[in-house]
Amino acid sequence: MKIAKKLNISIVVTVVHFCIAQADFAPYFYDNGPYIQNGNLALFSLSEDTAVGTHIYSLNGTDPEGQEVRYGLAFDPGSKQYFRVDPVSGNITLVEKLDREKQDSIDVLVSITDGRSKVVERVTVFVMDANDEKPEFQNMPAIVNVLETAQSGSSLFQVQALDRDTGSGGSINYYLQGAQSSLFSIDRHSGVLRIRSGETLDYEKSKTHFVTVIAKDGGGDFNGREQFMSSSASLTINVVDQQDTPPSFIGTPYFGFVYEVSLPGSEVYRVLAKDGDAGNPNPIVYSMDDGDDGVFGINKTNGRITLLTQPGNLKREIFNIIVRASEVGENGKLLDYGTTPVVIRVVDLNNNPPTFYGEHGPQNTFQLTMNEHPPEGEILRGLRITVNDSDQGANAKFNLRLIGPGRMLRVVPQTVLNEAQVTILVDDSSSMDYEKYQFLTYKLLAVEIDTPERFSATADIIIHLLDTNDNAPKFSSDYYIARIPENSPGGSNVVSVTATDPDSGRWGEVRYSIYGSGADLFLIQPGSGIIYTQPWASLDAELRSKYNFYVKAEDTEGKYSLAEVFVTVLDLNDHSPAFNQNLLEKTMVIGAPVMIQAVDEDAEEPNNVIEYSIMKADPDNIFDINTSTGEIVLKSYVKSMAIVQNITKQKECIWSVVVQARDQGQPSFSTTAVLKIDITEAVKSRFVSYVLGLRKRPGAVFGICLTLVSIAISVTVFISTLIYWKSVKKTRVHPQGKIRKIIRRL
Ligand SMILES: *[C@@H]1O[C@H](CO)[C@@H](O)[C@H](O)[C@H]1NC(C)=O
Ligand SMILES: *[C@@H]1O[C@H](CO)[C@@H](O)[C@H](O)[C@H]1NC(C)=O
Ligand SMILES: *[C@@H]1O[C@H](CO)[C@@H](O)[C@H](O)[C@H]1NC(C)=O
Ligand SMILES: *[C@@H]1O[C@H](CO)[C@@H](O)[C@H](O)[C@H]1NC(C)=O
Repeated sequence: MKIAKKLNISIVVTVVHFCIAQADFAPYFYDNGPYIQNGNLALFSLSEDTAVGTHIYSLNGTDPEGQEVRYGLAFDPGSKQYFRVDPVSGNITLVEKLDREKQDSIDVLVSITDGRSKVVERVTVFVMDANDEKPEFQNMPAIVNVLETAQSGSSLFQVQALDRDTGSGGSINYYLQGAQSSLFSIDRHSGVLRIRSGETLDYEKSKTHFVTVIAKDGGGDFNGREQFMSSSASLTINVVDQQDTPPSFIGTPYFGFVYEVSLPGSEVYRVLAKDGDAGNPNPIVYSMDDGDDGVFGINKTNGRITLLTQPGNLKREIFNIIVRASEVGENGKLLDYGTTPVVIRVVDLNNNPPTFYGEHGPQNTFQLTMNEHPPEGEILRGLRITVNDSDQGANAKFNLRLIGPGRMLRVVPQTVLNEAQVTILVDDSSSMDYEKYQFLTYKLLAVEIDTPERFSATADIIIHLLDTNDNAPKFSSDYYIARIPENSPGGSNVVSVTATDPDSGRWGEVRYSIYGSGADLFLIQPGSGIIYTQPWASLDAELRSKYNFYVKAEDTEGKYSLAEVFVTVLDLNDHSPAFNQNLLEKTMVIGAPVMIQAVDEDAEEPNNVIEYSIMKADPDNIFDINTSTGEIVLKSYVKSMAIVQNITKQKECIWSVVVQARDQGQPSFSTTAVLKIDITEAVKSRFVSYVLGLRKRPGAVFGICLTLVSIAISVTVFISTLIYWKSVKKTRVHPQGKIRKIIRRL
């Protein structure tokens, strides 16, 4: 608007001038030039970074009469002469440094003259901005005090900077620089500095933070290139200590120890804590939170942990005590606190031997009454034994052993740490026999394993066994052999059997009985085991000499066993030998024997063994008898009838022989019989003597042979003739062929 007014004024002046000098037309500026719109510098603008000496413009005008024109430049009085013009060419050169921030427009009076008329026009040249200004901090450097309790994200300060450039070059972004900037953040546009979210300040870690803030413009042209400009300034942030840190313990972790024999009041350990708010520390008091079990105490002011209890009450191996250290504020008020564990190990001295306990305290004899032969694996529950070694660790480790007869019982566990329920169980039931042991005595032994002292304890285990009916009666032998003479009267004692049952009382009572096919003739006395014959029985070895049967011994509950009884009836010589007849007749051929036989009814040798003998022979004893078989032969010298007849002195040869049969029993019985023997000569002996005679006459033998040959020839001739005449009759049709056949056959 102002520019337009000035232009109008110039035009008015020109017109006035023109009216005055009518004869000469005034020169004028072209409205538009070859490279700028106007010839008169109007609407021209120039960047402030244009270098001095730069040709910036050419004034262009002309004179209507064609006269040469000259150009001129003038400035308002007092203002800087920025340009110079070449009057002929109208070239304008910048001669003063521009600074938009100081002067953003230059009023120039441009003139053109043809020598007579001069036209002056006022124009305004605009100075354009270049990015030549740095941002400038307004309130920096600065010092900020912040409480360490300030919350994360809270704003601390607003940084302000100014950049006098316009546009992008005049806009500002803020940044933080430096290591500590990670704790803080700055808003790029507003410059508000905050504690970065998620971060907090801690006086105890760092009392002061130095933060470098960068203000940077948005960039703009300067001397034809884009340029960014920035400034930095430092901000000091002082952290102000607050009562915010609990006391902390020094020298943790804490491990202490105490001997189990230490006396009350002994110092065990000492803890030390300091207030974490080192800037303004408070006094500390100590206490115990947990885990001391009344065994330990702590001195409130100096942190000494001492033993309170008497020796022997340190039952545990490890105490985990929680110690608390509290800050004391004004008026003794307890503020913040910190805790720490203190591990106190009780050092065990092996001063306790293992000890056995019953239901009512220490005990070293345990008794139990039980039936014999309990089931294997059964636990002897009635004993209720506990064993304990009140030391700790290796000092409280011991073995349990059971020492006593056999391997009937077993103890578990075999190794104990501190304390255990002792279990005794049955390992071998069969040996736990009332008949062998009415009570069992064992020693239960507990011996420490890993200690030099090897402390030990023993307890007696006495087990009274009760009898059960576990045995059957048992015979003294598997079988009994008895001999009884035949003809023994009824009721005779045969044999006595015994069976024993080791069980006590009624279980040990035995009753006997017999049975079996051979038992009919016998009786047994149930209580005594004596076997008799039945009253009516008569034994006869010749009828039956062997009897066998079973005998049974049974206790009151029916447990029994068996044995076998063999009875032999002894034969007596109660029979005499007997011949079939008392008078016997036999014919004896010379050279051959005759037999006689007697029988003895007795059952056994030697009662039935017979011995034969010849008592008497008439007229003379020419016989020998085999004493055991009864075979009678002629004595060896009697070879023929002639000898016999020479003895008898007569033709008849009848002999009378008295033969005795005697048995071999005790006493011996005998019987006799009369044997009539007729001696003859054998028939076959005559033929034999004839043949023997022929040998002495060879002529007679030849005669006999000749006769036999003649008879054979006659028979052959007769049979051949007979066959021939039979074939002639049959072959009349083909006589020749038939004949040939016959001839061939012949
Ligand atoms: C001045 O302006 C005229 C007309 O537009 C032109 O022909 C001439 O070349 C210009 N002179 C210079 C030096 O620019
Ligand atoms: C004026 O400026 C023009 C264009 O830049 C140039 O050609 C000419 O030589 C200059 N005249 C003088 C006298 O410097
Ligand atoms: C604690 O220790 C202090 C200084 O060592 C002593 O004066 C004070 O008597 C002790 N307190 C107790 C309860 O023993
Ligand atoms: C018969 O007996 C007598 C007298 O004893 C004796 O001399 C004689 O030789 C006997 N004859 C025969 C054949 O033995």
